[in-house]
Amino acid sequence: MKLFLDSANFEEIREVASWGVLDGVTTNPSLCSKETVSFEDNIRKICALCPGPISAECVSLKAGEIVAEARGLAGIAPNIAVKIPVGLEGLKATSILRGEGVAVNMTLVFSTGQALLAAKAGARFVSPFIGRLDDVSEDGMALIEEIVQVFENYHLGTEVIVASVRHPRHVIEAALIGADIATVPYGVMEKLVKHPLTDIGVERFLADWRKVKK
Ligand code: G3P
Repeated sequence: MKLFLDSANFEEIREVASWGVLDGVTTNPSLCSKETVSFEDNIRKICALCPGPISAECVSLKAGEIVAEARGLAGIAPNIAVKIPVGLEGLKATSILRGEGVAVNMTLVFSTGQALLAAKAGARFVSPFIGRLDDVSEDGMALIEEIVQVFENYHLGTEVIVASVRHPRHVIEAALIGADIATVPYGVMEKLVKHPLTDIGVERFLADWRKVKK
């Protein structure tokens, strides 16, 4: 399973890259709004640091404008994946961009129908937001199961990015289902590696090691 960091913070991205587990990065306008550096400079730095796909999001609403904006974003670095919200205008833009070799990450996916159309239009990735579904008492992970099954049934090459991840179990359940990618916030990434029994074990070993005759 590939692990992306869901962050626009360069320090967080550099830290997780140093763990040797970082396969890519996803940003969105909300994450970018938290940063103090200019959007383009930040994305350029992230693309240079991590060779995997780096998602940068379009904010235009009409297909022609989305295509123009996407071309600009894709020009920043060869590993950019352009995030486009799913919808009729987004599908039109995606079908044009696929012909130009621009990787599209179709975002704000909340149904299997949306994911199927995104894949058929030529998106390289779809991003179902599972946490936001859980937040409104729906079953985000059931959506991942459906999308993965449909893509397998028809050998669709579009990769599923499990997004809006809230806790480590989301990552594990996504991995058990066989989702291609989980995009994980920094705090959840840290929790994935932490275990209280590991910390207690290290403390005990160190305490006992002090008693060993040397
Ligand atoms: O990057 C898209 C997605 O992961 C956002 O998550 O926590 O704002 O629902 P969240």
